[in-house]
Amino acid sequence: MKFCIDNADVEAIRRICEYYPVDGVSTNPSILAASKRKPYEVLKEIREIITEEGELFVQAVSRDADGMVREARHITEVLGKNTVVKIPCNPEGFKAMKLLHAEGVRLLGTAIYTPMQGFLAAKCGCEYVAPYVNRIDNMGYDGVQVAKDIHDAIAGSGYDYSGLLAASFKNSQQVLELVKYGVKAVTVAPDIIDGLVKNAAIDAAIEQFVSDFEGLVGKNITMENC
Ligand code: G3P
Repeated sequence: MKFCIDNADVEAIRRICEYYPVDGVSTNPSILAASKRKPYEVLKEIREIITEEGELFVQAVSRDADGMVREARHITEVLGKNTVVKIPCNPEGFKAMKLLHAEGVRLLGTAIYTPMQGFLAAKCGCEYVAPYVNRIDNMGYDGVQVAKDIHDAIAGSGYDYSGLLAASFKNSQQVLELVKYGVKAVTVAPDIIDGLVKNAAIDAAIEQFVSDFEGLVGKNITMENC
């Protein structure tokens, strides 16, 4: 399962990449707007941090398929290997996906609120489909269950090249549920990533080990020099 950062704050990305096993970074137009920076300037910095081995997800913003296709070509040309273009799962998006898939552009179907959007995106050639878990919860439905349904629909249809990049998480439990279910990937904002292992019991246990050991061998003495 892949684990990605859903953000465009380069300092936050640098920090998370230093401490956590990160496979990539996902952005969307709102995330780029929040950075208040030129889109390609910030995206190139993110590419440098994650190197060409990391997957970088960048969304097209045109309202029509032809525009999405042109944007996708440009995005991949500028940002290089392992760049995945996010295309909204509406009729214009599906049209663009089919054209881009035929060209070999790597695709993610985004803005997914219903299982059929996910299934159709996979059928159009998307390597990833991105259900918005918390936004679906906020509409009064079960976002985790919708994501699981999409996972099952894709797996059951034999589209092995496709799978979830589950997105829009607002708590650890939503992430855990989909990790347990074995989805292809999750993308999580930095504050939620920090929250995944924020627990007073963890800190207390680690501190107790250090303090017990220092009681035995002396302050600041470790297994390196005891
Ligand atoms: O790109 C999709 C995802 O980032 C949406 O997250 O937090 O805006 O619901 P959020």
